[in-house]
Amino acid sequence: MDFEYEQHERCQIELNSLVNVVETTISSELVGKEINLLSDDDLKLALSPVRAALDNIDTYALLGSPCCGSSGKILQPIHNEIQPIAPGVRYIHLREAYGIYSVGIFVFPPNAEIPLHDHPGMTVLSRVLYGTLGVKSYDVICEEEQPIKSSRRTSKKKAKKKAWHNVLRSVLLNPRRHKKEKVPSSTANMSSFVSQEQMKQEDPQQVGLHVYENEVKYLSAPDVTELYPRKGNLHHFKAGPEGAAVLDVLVPPYDTGDDRDCTYYVQADHLSKWCPKEKKIDSWLIASEQPRDFSCMGGIYKNFLGAVDAYDPMDDDTISSFD
Ligand SMILES: [Fe+2]
Repeated sequence: MDFEYEQHERCQIELNSLVNVVETTISSELVGKEINLLSDDDLKLALSPVRAALDNIDTYALLGSPCCGSSGKILQPIHNEIQPIAPGVRYIHLREAYGIYSVGIFVFPPNAEIPLHDHPGMTVLSRVLYGTLGVKSYDVICEEEQPIKSSRRTSKKKAKKKAWHNVLRSVLLNPRRHKKEKVPSSTANMSSFVSQEQMKQEDPQQVGLHVYENEVKYLSAPDVTELYPRKGNLHHFKAGPEGAAVLDVLVPPYDTGDDRDCTYYVQADHLSKWCPKEKKIDSWLIASEQPRDFSCMGGIYKNFLGAVDAYDPMDDDTISSFD
């Protein structure tokens, strides 16, 4: 068996093992439940096998490294090995079951950032494969549950759903979503913290999100971190000087057709205030356009991992069929 074939086999075994746990867990823990009624704690418990599987991933096998070890680090970051070559954060799309879950790897060049963004109604479990990351996250404050996105677009890909996926999808169609609440009237003039370019062409009072700000966390391989429909649902990443790679499992994935598109935000700092009860900063986030200096392009790494051309995980219009 030649070396490249052996690496490919090791990678596929590692990936298949993770995906089997993801699918088995969703089938056994979420099918038949009203997922939109589950609390963050319920979801954490239900998806705990996925977290355990992420803890146990063999990074060397997954990334096709010839080295072995237990440090969770690899000798060389892979951001320059992803094809086609492009600047910025890269995304290697691995597996997806439409509307149910997706698995992929974000690869950060040194000091690269993913700006503040949300994951409406989603749970995301992330394993740092190598490198270090600073993460600033926010918890959503909402009293009511209702969809937050008004624009629905019909996706042609829906016609390609499999029967098995339909069954699972039926419990995931209406996940708990955070609700954008009205921003206090004092924010009517946003120009002091959000440029007109960034602001969505919508009534700003309809796109504010009431949040608690969490302290910045520093993650390094092999840490696993989680976010839920409320807890930590919005975050901003900044990689360390070596860059980083993070494997994400999204349940369910982004999908504009189901009101789960990604929105970028900026913080309304002047509205932030200390909340003694929660011992956190109470703040407001304002939806913005995607920052012009941020890009996240899909790519292929060593042909080991399934790839989608120009796949942007935060814009599901680029999603290809998983069939
Ligand atoms: Fe994210």
